[in-house]
Amino acid sequence: MNLSGRRVVLGVSGGIASYKACTIARRLTEAGAAVDAVLTASAAEFIRPVTFEALTGRPVLTSLWDRGKALSHIEYAKNPDGMIVAPATANLIARAAQGVADDLLTAILLAATQPVAVAPAMNDDMYAHPSTQDNLRRLADRGWELLGPARGPLAEGPSHRPGRMLEPEEIVAHVARLVRRTTSRWKGLRVVVTAGPTREPLDPVRMITNPSTGRMGYALASAAFMRGSDVRLISGPSILEPPTGVETTTVETTEDMLAAVSAEVPTADVLIMAAAPADYIVKEASREKRPRSDGPLAITLEPTPDILLSIADVKPPGCTVVGFALEVGDGAIDRAREKLNAKALDMIVMNQADELGAGFESETNRVTLISAESEQRTDVMPKEAVAEEILDAVEALW
Ligand code: CTP
Repeated sequence: MNLSGRRVVLGVSGGIASYKACTIARRLTEAGAAVDAVLTASAAEFIRPVTFEALTGRPVLTSLWDRGKALSHIEYAKNPDGMIVAPATANLIARAAQGVADDLLTAILLAATQPVAVAPAMNDDMYAHPSTQDNLRRLADRGWELLGPARGPLAEGPSHRPGRMLEPEEIVAHVARLVRRTTSRWKGLRVVVTAGPTREPLDPVRMITNPSTGRMGYALASAAFMRGSDVRLISGPSILEPPTGVETTTVETTEDMLAAVSAEVPTADVLIMAAAPADYIVKEASREKRPRSDGPLAITLEPTPDILLSIADVKPPGCTVVGFALEVGDGAIDRAREKLNAKALDMIVMNQADELGAGFESETNRVTLISAESEQRTDVMPKEAVAEEILDAVEALW
């Protein structure tokens, strides 16, 4: 996520979730954004403005009456690439919906001409109250983006009803998408990403699979969401949380993955096959658990369908198709190029399973991005950063 050169106004109103706004400020700043935190008087009771100044490296405004800051509400309203209010209390939402401008934050919101995102956070009964619901509907009708709230425990105790603020990481993903909406070439594109392993059963308790965790594909799906695409993730078994904003389909076998990809691809603008589907299916999987015996066990395996080859007929013209190649040993680039041609791909992402810090079960990766005309090797980086480089390289093909 690269937000360098972007400016974000982070409005903070006074609820117990205000402390989580510190993480939002930090993450956005780490991504390169200039973050201007604006606190209501009640927010400043929960978290002191100096905390945000330290986290963002920028002055923090709390009042219309700060000396030397006349008209700052107009300047703040006109210049940012995006505005987020997190947490947005019931009171802040009510004031914004009514057009009340009795403090700096509501004055900025009233002067804003671009859409604003709000992350409501309040007691579950306050959220369910018809007044709050009317106010939120009014803001949504004006094009404001409502992020959450989530269900879950509140400061005052357990709850299963909506009220709790979304987690900072989820809010940051939405803000990244919001601030790039005007310039991103990924905006509105339908992107399908596959991830993880597939499993082919030997019997009800044993299977053929591989150590793929899904991390590379999940990072790609998340990065495409943050660039503004509508993303469908088709994932084999993985312990990872589905990325924010991404529609996720989970599958078990390579045949299931083929069915899911075939259903999505006809309307896709981009397909990224980051999954490691099992290449073999057990010819006669046993319905019963196979008892252990002392002698050797012979099992016949048959090839699974190759998903990339199988979808050639349903792939729309103009759909950019990216494959992965997991290689070991010498000649890796040549073998990846062969796959690029054999599977009619626009680009192939080659990674070496035998390289330190790359491949399966690693949080980092180093890949070589290969297309008909170019070949580019990345550094060893976190998979999130590799995902951004892959999407940049796809964009360069267009
Ligand atoms: N792939 C696929 N269907 C399969 C197996 C793989 O579509 N049944 C895709 C992968 O998702 C990847 C690309 O094909 O994008 C290459 O996968 P890889 O495992 O490197 O190559 P294989 O074609 O399976 O060949 P080999 O295992 O012999 O290297």
